[in-house]
Amino acid sequence: MSEIALYTAPKHRNVLLPVFDAGAGIPCNQHLIVHGGSAMLLDPGGKKLYQDVFAACNRALRGARLTAVFCSHQDPDVVAALNGWLMVTDATGYISELWRRFIPHFGSDRLVYDRITPLPDGPTTLDLDGCALLVLPAHFLHACGNHHVYDPVAKILYTGDLCASVGTDDRVIEAGELDAHLTRMEGFHRRYMSSSAALRAWVAMVRGLDIEMLAPQHGAVLRGRDTVARVLDWLDALPCGIDVLREVFTLPAPSKDP
Ligand SMILES: [Fe+2]
Ligand SMILES: [Fe+2]
Repeated sequence: MSEIALYTAPKHRNVLLPVFDAGAGIPCNQHLIVHGGSAMLLDPGGKKLYQDVFAACNRALRGARLTAVFCSHQDPDVVAALNGWLMVTDATGYISELWRRFIPHFGSDRLVYDRITPLPDGPTTLDLDGCALLVLPAHFLHACGNHHVYDPVAKILYTGDLCASVGTDDRVIEAGELDAHLTRMEGFHRRYMSSSAALRAWVAMVRGLDIEMLAPQHGAVLRGRDTVARVLDWLDALPCGIDVLREVFTLPAPSKDP
């Protein structure tokens, strides 16, 4: 599957890179934001995809320079290839300050480590050639140090694992397809997202943004204001994580033969 242009303007592009075969690994989305002569890659993925994503990223850059590699959290499908990205570009890596010291365990050396910038727990902005991208806290959704990026030009909120779907080849979903699509999101969210309180706090925060698209790291992008509004309502009411532990914390059925 080829790349998808989620938003295009003279100085600004948002590109969803092609899907590559991750073998037994969960399929992942890599997103690129290009503004002027600079670009940010979001959640670059692990070593299995590195060469394919690197080639696709270079094609999509169309001469722009990769200046930022953003990691929403510390999982291997996000950061396992970060060392490679920083070795062959002069981009700055970004990840929660809670996770920065864990990255060297993936094999990054001191020179690369010094170029990984810790993101503070609260909101901040990152400058992309004059475009102020908003970095928002999304802690416990699902990692305890977790961030999202809001692009105010394209009005796209990049949500990492939140809003992810599994078991679909669809790359973009709109309102008419949403009911069926929510069934592909529910199991993942109930088990991977940490708590309903975190979800509700996040929904309350992002309702203050003007959002055209929710762009997760797995599965389909959710496009259109109606779609976004309905997904936020769904998340606001979804029981998940520690709030449904009684479904998980059960003893095995007693054996008939003691
Ligand atoms: Fe994750
Ligand atoms: Fe993920």
